[in-house]
Amino acid sequence: MCGVFGYLGQSGQAAREVLAGLQRLEYRGYDSAGLCVVDADHHTRVIRAVGKVNNLRVKTDSMDFSSFSTGIGHTRWATHGGITEANCHPHTSQSGRFVVIHNGIIENYADLKAELIAKWYTFQSETDTEVTVQLFEDMFDGDYQSTMTRLVQRMHGAYGLVFIDRDNSWVLFGTKKWSPMVLGFGTDARYISSDYRSLIGLIDDYIILEDGDIFQITSDNYQILSEGHLADRTRQIVDESEKIAELGDFPNFMLKEVFEQPRVLEDVFRGRIDFSSYSLHSDTLAHIATLGIKRITVVASGTSYHSGLLGKYYLEELAGIPVDVVVSTEFKYKKKFVTPDELYIFVSQSGETIDTLDSLKIVKEQGGHVFGIVNVPGSAISRAAGQGLFTRAGTEVGVASTKAFVTQVACFLFLALYLGQKNGLDYRKYREIIDGISKLPEAISTLLLQNEAIKQVAEKYAHSHNFFYLGRAHELVIAMEWSLKLKELAYIHSEAYSSGELKHGSIALIDAEFPSLMINWGGILSPKNASSAEEIRARGGKVVWIIAKWDTNKHIYADTIEFDSLISELNPFLEVVILQLWAYHIANSLGRDVDKPRNLAKSVTVE
Ligand code: F6R
Repeated sequence: MCGVFGYLGQSGQAAREVLAGLQRLEYRGYDSAGLCVVDADHHTRVIRAVGKVNNLRVKTDSMDFSSFSTGIGHTRWATHGGITEANCHPHTSQSGRFVVIHNGIIENYADLKAELIAKWYTFQSETDTEVTVQLFEDMFDGDYQSTMTRLVQRMHGAYGLVFIDRDNSWVLFGTKKWSPMVLGFGTDARYISSDYRSLIGLIDDYIILEDGDIFQITSDNYQILSEGHLADRTRQIVDESEKIAELGDFPNFMLKEVFEQPRVLEDVFRGRIDFSSYSLHSDTLAHIATLGIKRITVVASGTSYHSGLLGKYYLEELAGIPVDVVVSTEFKYKKKFVTPDELYIFVSQSGETIDTLDSLKIVKEQGGHVFGIVNVPGSAISRAAGQGLFTRAGTEVGVASTKAFVTQVACFLFLALYLGQKNGLDYRKYREIIDGISKLPEAISTLLLQNEAIKQVAEKYAHSHNFFYLGRAHELVIAMEWSLKLKELAYIHSEAYSSGELKHGSIALIDAEFPSLMINWGGILSPKNASSAEEIRARGGKVVWIIAKWDTNKHIYADTIEFDSLISELNPFLEVVILQLWAYHIANSLGRDVDKPRNLAKSVTVE
């Protein structure tokens, strides 16, 4: 959450580079954006704008930045203080000499602020961040790193801080704890960013900073202090195959990423499943299979938590291993019983989610086996886990997770097959699933051809204020995932429910204005779902049925979206695509920004 970006390089380039960097970091928060540039004559310019980076761009369009070689910029996801210009970063110290940008939360900011106010400091904002720059100025002893060392001793919480000094345009300095930060080295410039991918194309190599690092960079030197000593961090070479995601012909990233799913489902299994010999390949899983795992706990948040719930279904059904799935925010503070025969799986698209990361660290400290299912290589969770499966979905720009979700589920399916073949999974079932996986990309491509038909049904319901998403067994998880998507994309209230549970209370909500989506591929629970649909209909409710083409009960539903169902284990991959398009079209027809829904950010680095 929040993106920080710093540039130190060519005269006249700072504002342009910072704005471009902010555009690439905008997924981290888009409540407001701001920048500060400094030149060799000690001029600074701080410009801030509420809203997206484009508002800042418009504000800076006619300004002359030709003398500025150094700059910092910030995209904000508001924590402390409303979405106002006064609360936008950067924040400036009392004298105007130091300027800061911050990603994180300073938990003891109120105490520090009171202390500074007692010393006659005045504050311009309601933010926790402003305290850091005021306190830095108050403590400044002429040396950035020694002052920073003392500053971090005073702050509790999470931070990625980058400072600029009006009196020295040749230097940027700062520190980080829990919030991600990289230093990037280009031919003519140096960069600091919350995300390595924002620097692709600009740099040759980079350093991922560790918690507690205090850095100082100039155009020809850099220094990192860790626990008072000079740290020798590895400079990693940029992977040239990584590209900045581009929209192409799509109107937004969400739709593009939905349509990328056939391809990412090929990528996630490539080299892992040999479809001709029905063999599975993974050195990591070969090691996991030797550990004698008897229980698994999955820890994740949001959509990644839902993929864990589908993982539970696969691991229990196919590998016969009992699984608990816990949301990271709860897991972190609950009592843990870490044993040597248990595997802890941490799932995260971004690899940054703070509660998932902290939970992982706690289990690791207690000697547990940890395993990551992560999309972003080099991210904090992938590094801390040390072993796991990358989901290979590529950069996911849309804030609502789509293609990352299906690849997470694919990783769980692969893991369940791998452990299942060791634990006596029926070979016919094993082959049937592998055959099904080989056809999955094609099946999803075919389903995507129904986009227009799904749009037409979805738009009929776009003005409903409430929805039930109903299903049974693993289809209930799909219901949960897409209830979440409807809320975050369309800002419409919805609830996921086991269709069988409805009559135990919640059916009281049903009336003609409260539609239900029933997700059902036609298995043994199909007649039960049909009964629940009848009960809703009898009370004047409408049921939209996401249904296998061959189902004969279509007359009882208000609307149907039909699909060619696969075997039970693989239908979630199809159902989720239908519901992605459903939520997308409802949100789009209501004029929502599907790539950047309100109040959200793509990576959650604060508690
Ligand atoms: C919803 C969504 C979020 C994330 C959650 C965890 O569409 O994307 O619910 O799944 O914030 O994020 P990661 O997977 O990055 O740990």
